[in-house]
Amino acid sequence: MTDSVRLTSYSRRAGCAGKVGPGDLQDILSRLPEESRPELLSTTRSGEDAGVYLLSEGLAMVQTVDFFGPMVDDPYSFGQIAAANALSDIYAMGGKPLTSLNIVAYPCELQLDIIESMLRGGYDKVREAGAVVVGGHTVHDEELKFGMAVTGVVDPERMTTIDGARPGDLLVLTKPIGTGILATALKADFITEKEIGEAIESMCTLNASAAGVLSRHNVSSCTDVTGFGLAGHLFEMLRAGNVSAELWADEVPLLEHALEMASMGMVPEGQSRNRRYVIGAELPADNDKDDLLVACIYDPQTSGGLLAAIEASQADAAVEELRTGGAPRAAVIGKVASHSEKLLRVRHERKD
Ligand code: CO
Ligand code: CO
Repeated sequence: MTDSVRLTSYSRRAGCAGKVGPGDLQDILSRLPEESRPELLSTTRSGEDAGVYLLSEGLAMVQTVDFFGPMVDDPYSFGQIAAANALSDIYAMGGKPLTSLNIVAYPCELQLDIIESMLRGGYDKVREAGAVVVGGHTVHDEELKFGMAVTGVVDPERMTTIDGARPGDLLVLTKPIGTGILATALKADFITEKEIGEAIESMCTLNASAAGVLSRHNVSSCTDVTGFGLAGHLFEMLRAGNVSAELWADEVPLLEHALEMASMGMVPEGQSRNRRYVIGAELPADNDKDDLLVACIYDPQTSGGLLAAIEASQADAAVEELRTGGAPRAAVIGKVASHSEKLLRVRHERKD
């Protein structure tokens, strides 16, 4: 029965593509008071993925929230994706999720079994993460939205922040990119949900195992790749660490059909916003294929992978471990360099 309902028709913007642009957001926040107290170890205002608050020696609380409209039509998958995405910022900080609260908005006319299925997807993901759903809040809205506020813990000494990347580190990405392009193509009926199976599976995958592998290597900085795209989140890492980087476009793992759909113009609106956000990028522009690759690196991601700067001598070993440990498409995608006018230089091949 639920097969006849197209969940994506209940949302104008799909997933993290519906996020407010990074530039606009900073404008608004800069006019609000900035909190500071000794227990506050990080806030999302400084570009961190989550707020971190020291509770006692060796123990800090990590908090984050994320919600959005459906990017797939299957409600159970959407629920899983929304939960995996909300949990991700805890993993990006090196933390362990403990509790979550549902945030739900739905149109009155939507059948209740669809909401139930969506919530069940969320519950199952939270349970897989070893955490527990402790409540939530629901409102009626014209557009369907689902997400979670998540609380976890982290050892402040082992917390992975966005500002630690050092020249010489290699950049590792744990999931392929292109979910924004594929969700746009799905909404426009250019592709079926079955054909974007790899993307759905990837978005449903928790960043838990990847974070576990990374914690066993010398990671100097980590964030997760979501609405600002690979280039946008990398840019934030470089700016926060006062370093620059070379990105090896041919090494970046792409989801199946992403290039093909980009070539058909299936590019979400958030992409151009992300391009404007990243200042000082040097891009290859030799041919049409380059344009498509560039569209992918600026593509807003939903429930994307972790992006980590790792001590060079450990990066390839970390990737091997990631590939056998739950992140089969993990790859070394670039190298951190010292600060330069051009923060981000995109070239084709790997050059250590
Ligand atoms: Co994040
Ligand atoms: Co987030």
